[in-house]
Amino acid sequence: MTTVVKVNNLSKTYGAGDTAVYALKKVNIEIEQGDFVAIMGASGSGKSTLMNILGCLDAPTEGNYWIRNLDVADLDEEQLAVVRSQLIGFVFQSFNLIPRTSALRNVELPMAYQGVSRAERRRRAAEALTAVGLADRMEHQPHELSGGQQQRVAIARALVTEPAMVLADEPTGALDTASTHEILELLHELNRKGTTVVVITHEEEVARAARRVIRLRDGEIIEDRTWAA
Ligand SMILES: Nc1ncnc2c1ncn2[C@@H]1O[C@H](COP(=O)(O)OP(=O)(O)OP(=O)(O)O)[C@@H](O)[C@H]1O
Ligand SMILES: [Mg+2]
Repeated sequence: MTTVVKVNNLSKTYGAGDTAVYALKKVNIEIEQGDFVAIMGASGSGKSTLMNILGCLDAPTEGNYWIRNLDVADLDEEQLAVVRSQLIGFVFQSFNLIPRTSALRNVELPMAYQGVSRAERRRRAAEALTAVGLADRMEHQPHELSGGQQQRVAIARALVTEPAMVLADEPTGALDTASTHEILELLHELNRKGTTVVVITHEEEVARAARRVIRLRDGEIIEDRTWAA
């Protein structure tokens, strides 16, 4: 099996001295290709801190992080930007789509700087939107789509570059129950097809969709369990 993520004794401290906050304390995680992981924990337990490090948006104070076989500590800003755009597909609670821009254009954009031809970009964007069930909404702009549909566009955008993992931060946090079910079903289906999915959530329902749950408390892993397929 291919290891996508490996973190070793990872710590993150904000500030110093009396006011230091130990947001992550010697965390160890290994995620294999094809896994579906929910990272859970109460508010302030370190979920976003971990997500930011896994997404190469922030650096740990101590410890190591490898994505695929790259030691993230060895990379400069430019290389980190390449890792973020090519190896990670981000999905956010607030969708983060570009307004007044069609779904198709939104999904094409991540490929703009990857030397993919215009025709190929269009073909792959259409394919990704079809895969998330939006073949008939490609020309719609974000404000013409429901919340659940907007999140589908965001998932298509995250997938179109064929990343090593999709990293989703509270992907259903802004959705109603019906759309939450849709998005969870979609993540499930993508995972069945082989996409590695890491979801940050505080909702038990979202965690139940995952195969593995990692629970944080005060910056430490208190549970890491995997269910049989
Ligand atoms: N930039 C920062 N400076 C100082 N402390 C921070 C900073 N960012 C986070 N923290 C602290 O680190 C701890 C972990 O925060 P984090 O945002 O990772 O929690 P979380 O699990 O994502 O919580 P939530 O569910 O509320 O989003 C908290 O105690 C928080 O106050
Ligand atoms: Mg958070």
